[in-house]
Amino acid sequence: MNWKSLFRVKPMEQILLESAGEGAVHGVQLTSGLKRTLSVWDLTSLGIAAVIGAGIFSTVGAAASNGGPATVFLFIFTAIACAFSAFCYAEFASGIPVAGSAYTYAYASLGELLAWIIGWDLLMEYAIGNIAVAISWGDYLNSLLSGYGIHLPTYLTTDLLSASRGYEKVKLLLDQGIPFSELLTNGATQGMLDAYTAWTTSPQLFGLHLIFHFPAVIATILVTVVVYIGIQESKRVANAMVGLKILVLLLVVGLGAFYVKPENWSPFAPNGISGVMKGVSAIFFAYIGFDAISTTAEECKNPQRDLPRAMIYSLAICTVLYVMVALVLTGVVKYDKLAVGDPLAYVFGPEGANVNWIAGIISISAVIALFTVLLVFQLGQPRIWMAMSRDGLLPGIFSAIHPKFKTPWFSTLVAGFIVGIPCMFMNLTEVTDLTSIGTLFAFAIVCAGVLAQDPKRLKVPGRFYTPYIDSRFIYPGLVLLGAFLWYRYGNESLINYLGNFDPANPGAVGFEVFKHRLPLTGFLILIVYLAAAAWWKRLSLIPLLGLTSCAYLMTELGIVNWYRFGIWLVLGLTIYFLYSRQNSKLGKSRG
Ligand code: ALA
Repeated sequence: MNWKSLFRVKPMEQILLESAGEGAVHGVQLTSGLKRTLSVWDLTSLGIAAVIGAGIFSTVGAAASNGGPATVFLFIFTAIACAFSAFCYAEFASGIPVAGSAYTYAYASLGELLAWIIGWDLLMEYAIGNIAVAISWGDYLNSLLSGYGIHLPTYLTTDLLSASRGYEKVKLLLDQGIPFSELLTNGATQGMLDAYTAWTTSPQLFGLHLIFHFPAVIATILVTVVVYIGIQESKRVANAMVGLKILVLLLVVGLGAFYVKPENWSPFAPNGISGVMKGVSAIFFAYIGFDAISTTAEECKNPQRDLPRAMIYSLAICTVLYVMVALVLTGVVKYDKLAVGDPLAYVFGPEGANVNWIAGIISISAVIALFTVLLVFQLGQPRIWMAMSRDGLLPGIFSAIHPKFKTPWFSTLVAGFIVGIPCMFMNLTEVTDLTSIGTLFAFAIVCAGVLAQDPKRLKVPGRFYTPYIDSRFIYPGLVLLGAFLWYRYGNESLINYLGNFDPANPGAVGFEVFKHRLPLTGFLILIVYLAAAAWWKRLSLIPLLGLTSCAYLMTELGIVNWYRFGIWLVLGLTIYFLYSRQNSKLGKSRG
């Protein structure tokens, strides 16, 4: 095999020509027919529209239930990691200002194989991520309906996985002789009891329990229909929703502040750093989406200047809102009660502030606001496939345009099925874990892509470049500082770590212990390599820190997620080598 061909790069001129006609190659003004109307605030608003969604409306609950109030630190750290990546995204987006995505950028800079991997990976960010948003939408719809006295059977509002797990846990407690009525005070949560009820009351077909998240499916069908017939105004609708989302979060903060009991904030980090870090995927998920604004590069008035600014502004605004919401949630109720699907409404319910009318308003707003997140990603996914199909990496039907609606109808339907079927059965946490690991990986590749560019290369005037800061002393210095902090404050010595000994589980030996350390071990090797490269090659600091922080967050996601992600990648690579490589138009054009 010709290995070099795996890294064949699609020339930027070709991308611009295909997307915008010849005028784009020679001038700054693209001639793709899209109007350049978006200002920096429009872009910021679009970013917020894609970012604020299931993360802060749902998954923050699970994160806070482990990390306690200290989860706010994770919000801040994650935002900083995202900001580093935002610079790198912006550099790519301004260099290739077409309505593509990280996939197109990677094709122009890193080559076909990595572009394919990113495209395959973005499926996790967009489609798998949307499964989580659909589930969250369903949870809020359910809470809204309950407020009106409409109670759907629990087997229609739970996923199969959670139901079977909850059933097993409750059965274990019942087998110990604990009466059902006393389970809540003996280790069970309301979620487990609901899951048990769903399992025991569900109808069965050939022994299979008919349990699925009905409202989540409804959300997916609705959004697929809207995207299929195409709404020209979709981005503007999403934009308009921003006001609503910000208002709801401010309402939660402003009103919730009156019900905060400071004693709930003590202890601030009840389960230490490890408790906080359990929330990585949930919290990172809450920030996913700021990168989506790079797809509007063709419609920005001044993409070079405004895209990076807008990404940073939307991250900053969301961080401030998220930190305040997290403080209020953990201040109104004790952190360990927050593991619910609708925490923002929950804290105003009978278990918390008991202001039920607010809970209703929050649920209605969540149902509307989450729908727009669904829309943004469900619109984006088919367009990424469309680009991949046009390059020959996916079959032609993926770029087929509906004669009447002018939308990529086939890709839209496939995206609908990919979200609609799993959202019936899959569990929110598992879906967010997968989305987060996949997206972090995509971010890491984008940072690596910027890192791979020669800092001394000729700069094109008017384009955005990630500001260059020489990492020669700073990065190795930071690595040494990290090693010192670990030595001084880490709860495990490096000797124990390397010696394959688990203080929490002294009996365990061998691979059983070590496998959980594989991600962190890989990370340690990576940073030592990067420190050496920073020294010798004077790498650019910002992408280096972006790559490092994304890689670090990935190590916190647990080995099981790495296995799943590995299987996902192998599946993607199999498709690439069996189909895409042979059919790549770039490959064919070069013989
Ligand atoms: N950040 C988006 C959300 O939280 C994906 O729903």
